[in-house]
Amino acid sequence: MLAWYDANARVLPWRAPPGSNAANPYRVWLSEVMLQQTTVAAVTPRFAAWIARWPDFASLAAASEEEVMGAWAGLGYYARARNLVACARAVAARGGFPTTEAELRQLPGIGDYTAAAVAAIAFGRRAVAIDANVARVVARLFALADKADVPAHAERITPDLRAGDFAQAMMDLGATVCTPRGPRCLLCPLRTECRGFASGTPEAFPARAAKKARPTRHGTIFWLERDGRVLLVRRPPKGLLGGMRALPTGDWAEAPPGLAGAPATAGWQLLEDEVTHVFTHFRLECRLAAASIAAQEVHAEGEWWPITDLGAAGLPTLFARAAQLFGRERWG
Ligand code: ADE
Repeated sequence: MLAWYDANARVLPWRAPPGSNAANPYRVWLSEVMLQQTTVAAVTPRFAAWIARWPDFASLAAASEEEVMGAWAGLGYYARARNLVACARAVAARGGFPTTEAELRQLPGIGDYTAAAVAAIAFGRRAVAIDANVARVVARLFALADKADVPAHAERITPDLRAGDFAQAMMDLGATVCTPRGPRCLLCPLRTECRGFASGTPEAFPARAAKKARPTRHGTIFWLERDGRVLLVRRPPKGLLGGMRALPTGDWAEAPPGLAGAPATAGWQLLEDEVTHVFTHFRLECRLAAASIAAQEVHAEGEWWPITDLGAAGLPTLFARAAQLFGRERWG
């Protein structure tokens, strides 16, 4: 795997070249957090912008949580952004970034996977980082039907030296060769060892968990406009999209909630359009309601944001898409 990595490592902006010990711990940590649940293609441009704005722990520790949440907009799973700031501040408070897996795991937002990945990739420690790509490669290599058997086997094949390169080699192999569907076994350096390949059905490993049915919930998103500005609120810190700037909504409900939870004003009009967004645990279908008021009438909590500058508000994808539809409705 290491020889394969030396020849085939993807060039990625947070990476040091294979075999070098020059990985920057801040960049490694940031990239591993960004790459949880998010693809390399989606992360790469966002990573560059982030590094330009907050190049190290100290600058991130000094940033406001709101600013950081806004910069995360569109990447999803927003608890990650809150934890990034909390972690940077904890690092500042303790006087440096720890280098062992056990100490890393004590920091906000760093779980087993991230602690292992950072210890191995940034600090050259022997640690076993298992993400979805690694798990798939290991499951096929040993023909494991049950994902629960992956960690023990991954542990067994991790080398004492270059564990970080090994982890990233497994990730790259999983992303480019040992893909979920249609693995390119003829290009694989592990082919002659692979029990999944020998079985003739490598795709069968690991067994896919039965998909859980996702319930649908309903909501209404409110567009309240005044003098070229729209009312934005900050969502409560806990819960879905917690701490993010947003258009006002009522609660998500079992049945379409109509205008329940609307900012107190008359003249709401429901639009034809709906916005649908798929979260991990449910699918959300939102109606859109718009109203326009004069300056004197206002007693709403929130920020009146210039509509022409909404791109700078850092809205999560659900609300950015709703805003586009409101815009289309107004201007055709
Ligand atoms: N996915 C998660 N971490 C990664 C890394 N370091 N390289 C490539 N893909 C990854």
